[in-house]
Amino acid sequence: MSSRTSARIAVLKGGPSAEREVSLVSGVECAAALRNEGFDVVEIDAGPEVVRDLKAARPEIVFNALHGRWGEDGCVQGILEWLRIPYTHSGVLASALAMDKTRAKQVLAAAGLPVPKGKLVGRDEARTAHPLPPPYVIKPNNEGSSVGVYIVPDGGDPARIAEDMSEVVLVEEYISGRELTTTVMGDRALAVTDIVSDGWYDYHAKYAPGGSHHVIPAQIPADIEAACLDHALRAHRALGCRGVSRTDFRWDEARGVEGLYLLEVNTQPGMTPTSLVPEQAALSGISFGALVRWMVEDASCSR
Ligand SMILES: Nc1ncnc2c1ncn2[C@@H]1O[C@H](COP(=O)(O)OP(=O)(O)O)[C@@H](O)[C@H]1O
Ligand SMILES: [Mg+2]
Repeated sequence: MSSRTSARIAVLKGGPSAEREVSLVSGVECAAALRNEGFDVVEIDAGPEVVRDLKAARPEIVFNALHGRWGEDGCVQGILEWLRIPYTHSGVLASALAMDKTRAKQVLAAAGLPVPKGKLVGRDEARTAHPLPPPYVIKPNNEGSSVGVYIVPDGGDPARIAEDMSEVVLVEEYISGRELTTTVMGDRALAVTDIVSDGWYDYHAKYAPGGSHHVIPAQIPADIEAACLDHALRAHRALGCRGVSRTDFRWDEARGVEGLYLLEVNTQPGMTPTSLVPEQAALSGISFGALVRWMVEDASCSR
């Protein structure tokens, strides 16, 4: 698509979600790479006046660097459809579906993909008695940030679960083992990364600087690697994702391929040069600049 070589691009970044800070970093980095690729780039911090700002910027294409609610759940995608501005990543339905972990898991299970057993329960009910035999995980059904994920270990006390949880929470069987993730770029799954964190049950530590490191390609058996690549591509297709997505797994290695579970599909994964997706692209010989260029060339409406 040579007409897009020097197109005017608006990078949407920031926004009001819990992942605002990460998105600001993704946005700045993507904007710099797009400028370096020769595009005419304007950066927009997506606030209440996002429609006015988009109309003023008059972009030919929107590069969506938002994460979390409003930017990753179909809301901003609906605005861009309404304005008829081609945009990157997934469309309205796939974004909304992937953000709703329970409904996404129903679609993934129907496609024959392995997901942890779980259910939605009222927060107060979850605090009164164990909704599942421990160990299990309690997490928000539709937040993109890992904040708010609680592990209830064997012998754990459900009453200690935070009061600031949403009224309804997702309760899931705890999958012990390793944390794997795979990027899909169009019709191709790129690689598997093993995210190694220092903490024991401490999932917050993973997101602090130095709290985790990435082993890429993951040092795992060939059948597990093949299963991650296969499952990520099938998940991307089952949810109707477009452009780039990233699928998170847990793998209980003692159980071989039977121990591999798909946790969620991220439709707006982190996009700094040291994020998981750009690292997997680099391993496949695709530079950060080539990756953002590909996203722009792949952009459309009615996705
Ligand atoms: N069922 C589970 N078993 C074990 N760990 C889990 C489970 N669900 C979530 N986690 C842990 O919490 C992290 C965040 O959960 P995830 O479902 O990916 O939501 P998000 O990344 O949107 O917050 C995972 O990367 C994993 O470390
Ligand atoms: Mg995740």
